[in-house]
Amino acid sequence: MIHLRKGITPEQGHWRIPEGTFEDEHGRKGFFGRASHLYHKNPPTDWISIEGECKPYALDTRKLNDKQEYPVFVLVNDDVRIGTWTLTSPPEWYFRNVDGDLLYFVHRGQGKIESDYGSLAFQKGDYIVVPKGTTHRLVPTEKSKFLVIEGTGEYEQPTRGILGHHAIYDPALIKIAEPEEYDNSKSEYELRIKRMGKITKVVYGFNPLDVVGWKGDLFVWKLNISQIKPVMSHRVHLPPSVHTTFVNQNFVVCSFVPRPAESDPDALRVPFWHRNIDYDEVIFYHEGNFFSRDGIDKEMITFHPYGIHHGPHPKAYENRDEKEFLDEYAVMVDTKNPLFLTEKGKEIEWKEYWKSWQIRKQKASI
Ligand SMILES: [Fe+2]
Repeated sequence: MIHLRKGITPEQGHWRIPEGTFEDEHGRKGFFGRASHLYHKNPPTDWISIEGECKPYALDTRKLNDKQEYPVFVLVNDDVRIGTWTLTSPPEWYFRNVDGDLLYFVHRGQGKIESDYGSLAFQKGDYIVVPKGTTHRLVPTEKSKFLVIEGTGEYEQPTRGILGHHAIYDPALIKIAEPEEYDNSKSEYELRIKRMGKITKVVYGFNPLDVVGWKGDLFVWKLNISQIKPVMSHRVHLPPSVHTTFVNQNFVVCSFVPRPAESDPDALRVPFWHRNIDYDEVIFYHEGNFFSRDGIDKEMITFHPYGIHHGPHPKAYENRDEKEFLDEYAVMVDTKNPLFLTEKGKEIEWKEYWKSWQIRKQKASI
């Protein structure tokens, strides 16, 4: 192990940052690989202009709130598709997605999910895991909006390592679908299978959700974001990877939940700058006051592709020592492979977002 130090640096990262400098983590493999902390004279996000695609994006999914027949994906790659689905009433058909596992995060609304494995009530803040190939239907009792994260691989829980397996959330908080006898009075029932992004319609003369029992270790389950007990240190800002809720093939899903700010007066109390060179980063803003992001409201998605910096917004950095509690719920998706904006994603982009990081330019125009 070699750990070098050159020029002006603090004793350790994220702590007692030298006056007038801005800390930038240049690291590999998310927050798990080799990394150095660089101390800049200027915030690396104080740019004058950006030309090209490697820039911060913000997408306003409130523009997708009308009823949609299928989930609308805005950011995609071979491992993961991210989008939203708004439903005002249950679809008349059952859904079987064979393009991957589905993770529905209930942003708003309530109801139940019906499936091969039975029913499970849902409410705001639930993460519902639906394994690939499960026949199911979302049955909202009021207008409901879901963040939908379709993963090519399987959703698994993260390893807790030295924290022990009751950390982050106690496995006892997981709720599993219970068999239910569904209506079978109609003469026809339609199943829609999504495979390779294309829909096939199959009609049965009976309700295909006719399972009377099941056993095994693959099933529909859920966890509510409000039940997550965040890992933190009062002395040093921990990397976002400690907030990992699910792991899948080449991506992770993390939950930011309300938590106290670091109380040690020497600790950095806002996220450090980074250019996340091995991962693209997506955040969906669910509830609360998004302290470190200016101009970002509930239901928006930010997308920070690898290569360009992000970190605290100017106002958050200025007020960093006043904030004692972070009152936010947000879902982050970090992907190993680059994401692409779909046409729908491009349509809902807030094009001025990259300017919200500027300090000099904004000061000059006052
Ligand atoms: Fe980040």
